[in-house]
Amino acid sequence: MKKPTDKDTWHWDDYWRHGFLTSCADTFQSNYEGRLRQVWEEFFRSAKGNATILDIGTGNGAIALIASRISSELDSGFSVHAIDQAEIDPPAMVKSNTDGLAAIHFHSKTPAEDCGLPDNSVDMVSGQYALEYTPLNETVAELARVCAPGARLLFIMHHADSVVLETAAEELRLGKVLENSGFFDRAADLLQHMSNVPADQAHRLAGDPKAEDSRKQLNQSAAELKALVSQTPNPQILQTALKSVSDCFHRQQALGLEVLPLLAKYRRQLEANLARLHDLQNASVNEEKGQEIIALFDALGFLTEPLEDIFHEQDLLAGRLLRASLSAGS
Ligand SMILES: C[S@@+](CC[C@H](N)C(=O)[O-])C[C@H]1O[C@@H](n2cnc3c(N)ncnc32)[C@H](O)[C@@H]1O
Repeated sequence: MKKPTDKDTWHWDDYWRHGFLTSCADTFQSNYEGRLRQVWEEFFRSAKGNATILDIGTGNGAIALIASRISSELDSGFSVHAIDQAEIDPPAMVKSNTDGLAAIHFHSKTPAEDCGLPDNSVDMVSGQYALEYTPLNETVAELARVCAPGARLLFIMHHADSVVLETAAEELRLGKVLENSGFFDRAADLLQHMSNVPADQAHRLAGDPKAEDSRKQLNQSAAELKALVSQTPNPQILQTALKSVSDCFHRQQALGLEVLPLLAKYRRQLEANLARLHDLQNASVNEEKGQEIIALFDALGFLTEPLEDIFHEQDLLAGRLLRASLSAGS
């Protein structure tokens, strides 16, 4: 067994521990649906019997699961390997829609650019919002190493012109505003003052100039953030921050609980969300990057097809689709 990578993947580890099946949180009822789902089903249905399938950047295994279910349905005997650089354990984390997960070989902390599978052993490679997150030169070289003659590869990548990217850019902007506002620090400061006096004597804080100053500063940040909520089409980050802080004050005042650790947890969740959005923004594929990816595959002997735009529900741009293959005689 290969040594697991020690890359820092805390923001993805956190996400997959929540048990979401796909990277789109609750957007899809269970697994990917519509055209995305159809593309993956067609791809795996076209695999030969006993194929070895490699799903890169698998997360909690959404795409690997489609392959695994088709394998049982058609009695195809696929061997599905699903890898992710993050720490994953889908059979333990995913709570519903789990039929077929147990048959997948999951490899946690395993980067696509060093997947540990033998040379010429893989017949099909899949990647949903995955390839574009990886170091492309190294990953394509690794795929050239592990793919068997006749192998087929399919990737759906984030489209730079999609609404998802537009939303991510706005959320990242608001994340910066939130960080610069010092909102969480100010909340922690006031909560610290409050925890120094018993809950039934909270009125004493009014006579403490430092606590009063802290309260004023927090109220000012909160007012600024609330004003911004009504000015953006994507206020979720701000709303989550406001709700988290309000929840902490409620728990401390009403229940007398020590809430600083909870505030730190809420803050970390928000930072993880922003770090994933940052990865997403870096990963997104515009026309130029798409052509560079194709050139990398071509240079290593793969046959590639022109990139295709893929839409979810008719008009929602969902990704750029790339198909590549190795000739059977290579
Ligand atoms: C947007 S998620 C997609 C997950 C899954 N394919 C899905 O559609 O639900 C991107 C995933 O790529 C993983 N990733 C990033 N860099 C990677 C690398 N170099 N090798 C393998 N996985 C990587 C992340 O840890 C994350 O789980």
